[in-house]
Amino acid sequence: MAGLEAHYSASDIEARILAALRTAGLDPEQRLAPEQLAPLDHFHTGGLRASRELLELAQVQQQDRVLDIGAGLAGPARTLASEVGCRVDCVELSPDYCAGATLLNRLTGLDDRIDVHQVSALELPFPDGSFDVIWMQNVGMNIADKRGLYTEMHRVLKPGGRFAFQEMAAGSEPTSYFPLPWATDPADNCLVSADEMRTVLGECGFVVGVFEDTSDEHLGRSVANATPAAPGQLGLSVFVDNLGQKAANARRSLEEGQVRLVRGVFRR
Ligand SMILES: C[S@@+](CC[C@H](N)C(=O)[O-])C[C@H]1O[C@@H](n2cnc3c(N)ncnc32)[C@H](O)[C@@H]1O
Repeated sequence: MAGLEAHYSASDIEARILAALRTAGLDPEQRLAPEQLAPLDHFHTGGLRASRELLELAQVQQQDRVLDIGAGLAGPARTLASEVGCRVDCVELSPDYCAGATLLNRLTGLDDRIDVHQVSALELPFPDGSFDVIWMQNVGMNIADKRGLYTEMHRVLKPGGRFAFQEMAAGSEPTSYFPLPWATDPADNCLVSADEMRTVLGECGFVVGVFEDTSDEHLGRSVANATPAAPGQLGLSVFVDNLGQKAANARRSLEEGQVRLVRGVFRR
């Protein structure tokens, strides 16, 4: 992925995470609470708050088996595993993020409830009907083949299973401010409109439960996890170059209706 890519080798990313934790006054030798890591490991619009809202919307239960697609450093997976108590499988394309996710799972003592798989969302290594819930936050905007993605998700969901997501959608105007957090330039920008998202999901066998545009709600709130952290504090800038400009462009794009923030829970 282009906007939030990790530029470092797996061991570099582990070293960066450990250094950032220590600088923020956290001791990696002690068990860390997932919540303490949230400014670093929730790589999506709205951060931990948005994950908790989605969790409520999707009514994830302890007995659910959950697949987190494009899990990044697995912050949302740890929120699910620690706050709901469910098991989570993470799929993530980047080996660097997989290494970071595995490290943070260990430091929070959640490695027995979360498995990390370095694979593409377009080729899921699971049998049909494996999961009760598929979870996806800010990932589809980097995947051009939406039909392939939704078809593969439908395959691994149990009948009646839920797909819970949040995503940027294309707005009424073309996207013009780059770099964005998910796209350095227009070639990386795989947004489709909310209508198209709903249509393709329907064609792939999903039935809408909730589908809402939360752009205005988001704009009315502070932009906490999208702004560079103060020196010594944890933040996405540990991994993301030029975060200030990318975040400002994303906000401007939202304000001007070039992009929309949507979330939903669909059923198989
Ligand atoms: C903006 S980050 C979101 C990470 C995580 N969902 C979160 O909210 O913290 C997008 C993630 O999707 C991953 N990704 C992009 N395309 C993917 C694909 N085809 N298969 C698996 N992961 C993918 C990227 O590597 C990146 O870690």
